[in-house]
Amino acid sequence: MTRYTQVFLATAFTSRSRQEIEILQDCLFCIDDEGIIARIVRPDESDYQIVLKDYEQTDSFRRVEKGSYLLPGFIDLHNHASQWAQAGTALDIPLNDWLSTYTFSEEARFSDLAYAENVYEDIVETLLANGTTTALYFATVHKEASILLAEICAKKGQRGLVGKVVMDHPDETSPSYRDESTESALQDTEEFILAVKELGKTTKQGVYPVVTPRFIPSCTDEVLQGLGELAQKHDTHIQSHCSESDWAHQHVQQRLGKNDAQALNEFGLLQDKSVMAHCNFLSDEDAALFAETGSAIAHCPISNAYFANSVLPAARFSSMGVDIGLGSDIAGGFSPSLYDNARQAVISSRMLEDGVDTSLPADQRGVNESRITLTEAFYYLTAGGGESLSLPIGRLEEGYAWDVQRVNTTVPTARLPLFDDEINLQDLFEKILYLVRPENIQDVWVQGELVHSRR
Ligand code: GUN
Ligand code: FE
Repeated sequence: MTRYTQVFLATAFTSRSRQEIEILQDCLFCIDDEGIIARIVRPDESDYQIVLKDYEQTDSFRRVEKGSYLLPGFIDLHNHASQWAQAGTALDIPLNDWLSTYTFSEEARFSDLAYAENVYEDIVETLLANGTTTALYFATVHKEASILLAEICAKKGQRGLVGKVVMDHPDETSPSYRDESTESALQDTEEFILAVKELGKTTKQGVYPVVTPRFIPSCTDEVLQGLGELAQKHDTHIQSHCSESDWAHQHVQQRLGKNDAQALNEFGLLQDKSVMAHCNFLSDEDAALFAETGSAIAHCPISNAYFANSVLPAARFSSMGVDIGLGSDIAGGFSPSLYDNARQAVISSRMLEDGVDTSLPADQRGVNESRITLTEAFYYLTAGGGESLSLPIGRLEEGYAWDVQRVNTTVPTARLPLFDDEINLQDLFEKILYLVRPENIQDVWVQGELVHSRR
């Protein structure tokens, strides 16, 4: 009989589809030595008692106590680790001014590796403590500090996908913070890719290099073309910002005479492992191109409220077959918690559907069929994020990584309002998503390894 490295007896929630969750009540989760879910044994299966008896008295067994529940670890599809020190401040001016007034000067500080280490260690730990087991990061233009972020993810046990940011456009960047030249941007990116791939070979949970043109305005055509080629040559993920705000969308229209999506595609930057942040201003043709190429949207609902001049029509793009996950967009979004972002995704979608201007009649105020449910937001946080990255993560299912958070609903300082002995598990799932705070997240595993614990 196969020996499992760990067996958990627990009640868990996972996504079945955008519309439906699966409640795995009192199941046995059997994990192999690579940190993969080898088997889930349900109580009605014939060998349930046999597996339970076989493991119950061993060190490999863990009974998740009453009041605690398991959820898949969350996937942050868009996070500027290098903006963590800025989080919660400076959300008062439009995107373009925000970048040039606050953000580029903050990112420039990452030429100092000691500063980079301080900030990166803290953001990785903070995300793990918030239940984020995989993150797709923007670092900065600096090659060494970007490699350092990947090393910190590797060391702390987080599945990190990390990009050295490229920005070489002389008119849209300042001499104090840009790649020195198009050639050096491409060379540094290739060296970065090779270094992180090497690191990935010895990292259980995986770390991955990501080709990262910041966004079209800050990049020359030559560098965008070259980055598309590098991504293809080394078969890497790709990330950027796409059609985020009125300003960014119009800037690309004026420079290239087309939308971001069309341009990114022509530069070879839209493919199955591409994740584009925001995408609020995608046309239907752009969205169709995303669906066709397998490119995903990182939906950043908190950040969008400050910088995107709009609400992403997530329901519409999902129904067109576009992969969507959620991103914190630290520090355009102030919260490192994807719980907060899922809540905002639902709230924003309701405001898009109903509209907000009461001087208009109700039937002209909003956009029909825009709301998403909490179940759909949970899908984006987990399975949708995994599909966006083309990785076997985000589901509690055989063959998927054991990336899991244990949520304790009975923590004294953050007790969930549950007053009946018999808990309806569907209601409980909704309460968890709306009410959990970091105190409730007591254990976090990535690829079978315990990486955060509050006990
Ligand atoms: N567009 C280009 N750079 C950025 C960034 O750092 N944050 C956001 N939200 N949008 C961007
Ligand atoms: Fe961003």
